[in-house]
Amino acid sequence: MFDPTANPANIPPDLEAFWMPFTANRQFKAKPRLMVAAQGMYYTTDDGRQVLDGTAGLWCVNAGHGRQEIVQAVATQMSQLDYAPAFQMGHPIAFETATRLAKMFPGDLNHVFFANSGSEAVDSALKIALAYHRVKGNGTRQRLIGRERGYHGVGFGGMSVGGIPTVRKFFGGLLGGVDHLPHTHNLSHNAFSQGQPQWGAHLAEELESIVALHDASNIAAVIVEPVAGSTGVLLPPVGYLQKLRQICDKYGILLIFDEVISGFGRLGTGFATDYFGVIPDIVCLAKGLTNASIPMGAVVVREDIHQAFMAGDENAIELFHGYTYSGHPVACAAALATLDIYDRENLFARAGSLAPYWQEAVHSLKGLPSVIDIRNLGLIAGIELEPIPGKPTARAFECFLRAYEAGILIRTTGDIIALSPPLIIEKSHIDQLVSTLGDILKQL
Ligand SMILES: Cc1ncc(COP(=O)(O)O)c(C=O)c1O
Repeated sequence: MFDPTANPANIPPDLEAFWMPFTANRQFKAKPRLMVAAQGMYYTTDDGRQVLDGTAGLWCVNAGHGRQEIVQAVATQMSQLDYAPAFQMGHPIAFETATRLAKMFPGDLNHVFFANSGSEAVDSALKIALAYHRVKGNGTRQRLIGRERGYHGVGFGGMSVGGIPTVRKFFGGLLGGVDHLPHTHNLSHNAFSQGQPQWGAHLAEELESIVALHDASNIAAVIVEPVAGSTGVLLPPVGYLQKLRQICDKYGILLIFDEVISGFGRLGTGFATDYFGVIPDIVCLAKGLTNASIPMGAVVVREDIHQAFMAGDENAIELFHGYTYSGHPVACAAALATLDIYDRENLFARAGSLAPYWQEAVHSLKGLPSVIDIRNLGLIAGIELEPIPGKPTARAFECFLRAYEAGILIRTTGDIIALSPPLIIEKSHIDQLVSTLGDILKQL
């Protein structure tokens, strides 16, 4: 069996064949950064160093690394039922997982469709929104509205409603019939705001202009990340999401929250929908659902959306959509074990109680060279650096490389450092993360 830690001669694997995702492949392969083990808050590198995980992997290992409860649950499930189809068949654990997940949501958000990633959850949500209007007899409602700088994964649907130019520009015409709301980031109004910025709620009213242009009868859904992560931590201004909800209600437009990163305690509540007190019609989930141990995504929909499909011939398939691995028993076992950990260790509330300490720590970096903004919410922080003229992204990437050498894992996007540690983080880890980052920023 391949055991990467049992490699006393430290012989690196052949790096050539793996075309790495979202990676500068040549830079990486010239100077690899390989993780071979992880426990709690730390990764172990192939040269035996401990690296503090300041990003919960990719915003996903919310309960920390190496959780034996998940390992056990997965192993038991694999030996009992490794796989069974979910098309015209079922297995109990998928129903149990859906019921458990539905109970975590407020109101009538009570039906769950399973996918295998955030991208698939998003594309599933968009398809459900389009099909919903059609089965309700409103088939002209086909336009989808995203937001500039949004990230909704890499499927054609998610790319189309997403608003990060580099994620879109290589891939042709994408979906037609898509509009974008403006993003809400404006340093002249919002720089160094602690928590939600005060300025910018009015930008939700741009939805009115889009409705005026196309007419509500042609618009299916609006999709936003309640807190935008991948673009570099953009926080919703106070009142913004409430306004979006009101305008969607006014015109019968579905509101989809992509909670792939904001879900599972990141803000100190179960979901952003709880934090902001705004209930969408559809929620997209992934990442923290299984603590990233096994790929899994999910879409949670409201009762009336689900009900709209449950009409007509009872022997007919109601939604022609699904994946071979929808509700995979092993992923469900990982999800249930993960949700148990969140409950038992009260990790969502824990994140909330650490948030003030986190806020103070990250804002202590204000005034360091090149730092032009710091923003935070829950256990999230974005630190925006002044780009080197003519070399966008270079400064932050250099910071990322130095951070790895110095024993902390951070993530950068553009010239923004994004931090999102596991929710098990201790104050001493926050101190280590912020002081190491501060030293690097001083030297840059
Ligand atoms: C908000 C959001 N939606 C969707 C995705 C895509 O998820 P995945 O990479 O699992 O497809 C991500 C990934 O970072 C995300 O942050």
